Amino acid sequence: MSTTEISSSSWLTRYGPWAVITGASDGLGRAFARVLAARGMNLVLVARRASALHALAEELQVDYAVRCIVQPMDLRDPRSIASLNEQTAALDVGLVVAAAGFGSIGPLLDRSLDDEADLFAVNAGAVLRIAHSFGRRLRARGRGGLVLFGSIVGFQGTPLSANYAASKAYVQSLAEALAIEWDDDGVDVLSCAPGPVATGFAARAGMSMGSAAKPDDLVEPCLDALGRRTTVRPGNLAKLLGYSLMILPRFIRSRILGHIMRGMLPKGGLGVAP
Ligand SMILES: NC(=O)c1ccc[n+]([C@@H]2O[C@H](COP(=O)([O-])OP(=O)(O)OC[C@H]3O[C@@H](n4cnc5c(N)ncnc54)[C@H](OP(=O)(O)O)[C@@H]3O)[C@@H](O)[C@H]2O)c1
Repeated sequence: MSTTEISSSSWLTRYGPWAVITGASDGLGRAFARVLAARGMNLVLVARRASALHALAEELQVDYAVRCIVQPMDLRDPRSIASLNEQTAALDVGLVVAAAGFGSIGPLLDRSLDDEADLFAVNAGAVLRIAHSFGRRLRARGRGGLVLFGSIVGFQGTPLSANYAASKAYVQSLAEALAIEWDDDGVDVLSCAPGPVATGFAARAGMSMGSAAKPDDLVEPCLDALGRRTTVRPGNLAKLLGYSLMILPRFIRSRILGHIMRGMLPKGGLGVAP
């Protein structure tokens, strides 16, 4: 066996044979699904849009001869993760990639409270439930990995994206703490904290995004960091923005992020939600 074959088989032993990916119907989740399938992982694909998940499952099964199970669900529902846990109980899940999430832009008081509560339910509430239920399974197994999605906006308060950035600060803090709590359990935790990425994210959040990384370019750096670090800022843009901001006090970073977010407001302006 070559060194590459040995290391790829030990990677599969640690994190395989099954991975659960939330947010697999688009963007970063879909990009992770492709790379993990290419590495020989069987996948449970989760998001709301069943047709997009089925199309991806068929493509990956043909291209990589892996098994894919589609689990359409709405992660705003607090019962969804318990159901996902039950549906996958018979599978030897070694890796969970919690990519489902969405953003918003505009002054918090002009946003709909229901929409912002939904954002928090998916970006933070579902992540807590995933970490708790699948964390227990991974701990019992004695090996595995959990990949969460922070963001460069999660390292300080971010005006005009206050609730989204706060949800990402929650994820970042959770990942940093669990990485240490699970140290002796053989379970690796990673916060993937990208800068702008060209996915469906900006359109869904109603933002106008300028330069952005390609989702496919971010997956390998994240998977390479798993088990080695707790936080990865994948891509040059995230590194440039992240490391140049890091040396500044938080209140200055927040001011700068506020200016950046103002530049991302939609050209036609924002209304005030009821
Ligand atoms: N793109 C960026 O610039 C960027 C930067 C930093 C961090 N991130 C984070 O990276 C993660 C992935 O984002 P992305 O860029 O890949 O966005 P994306 O292309 O918009 O994909 C988001 C995914 O989340 C799923 N999702 C959204 N709401 C859901 C719900 N209620 N229930 C189940 N699934 C739901 C969507 O599927 P359905 O619509 O089919 O449900 C979709 O598969 C997110 O946590 C995001 O906050 C993104």
